[in-house]
Amino acid sequence: MAKPELIQAFNDQIREELNSSYVYLALSADLDGQNLTGAAAWFRKQAEEERGHAMRLYTFVNDIGGQVVLQALPQPASGVKTLKEAFTKALAHEKHVTASIHKLVKLSRQLDDIAAESFLKWFVDEQVEEEKNAAEILAKIEMTGASSGSQYMLDRDLGKKAGASAS
Ligand SMILES: [Fe+2]
Ligand SMILES: [Fe+2]
Repeated sequence: MAKPELIQAFNDQIREELNSSYVYLALSADLDGQNLTGAAAWFRKQAEEERGHAMRLYTFVNDIGGQVVLQALPQPASGVKTLKEAFTKALAHEKHVTASIHKLVKLSRQLDDIAAESFLKWFVDEQVEEEKNAAEILAKIEMTGASSGSQYMLDRDLGKKAGASAS
């Protein structure tokens, strides 16, 4: 039986992932408001993936006989107007989530919970991928500049990406 401290930490991570979903959905709404509909689709898809992450943790807590307890989520910030702002936020957010996953791995080690540590490996790898994706898009934004022409092209590419990976 997993220790209560670990179950609590997993419940906290469920909140982090649902919060990520909420943060990305808010970014999607902001970008839709700016007619950046391709990037909005990209963030909406990201929001769905984050909910998937929460559900992976949810299932694991159930599987090890723990009690899932959902927590309150803060109201996400809004008012983002550009792709650069959106992806700067996204990258910072992913770094924050990576830190919380690493904390959870360390706790699993401390508590000598090998099953939890093994389960978390997927999340460790996923965070590398997510940080890389956000950093690459941000680098492209910085490379192409802030003109409306380059925003238009990037927005179109992100829309294609969201559509392609959704199918
Ligand atoms: Fe996640
Ligand atoms: Fe993520």
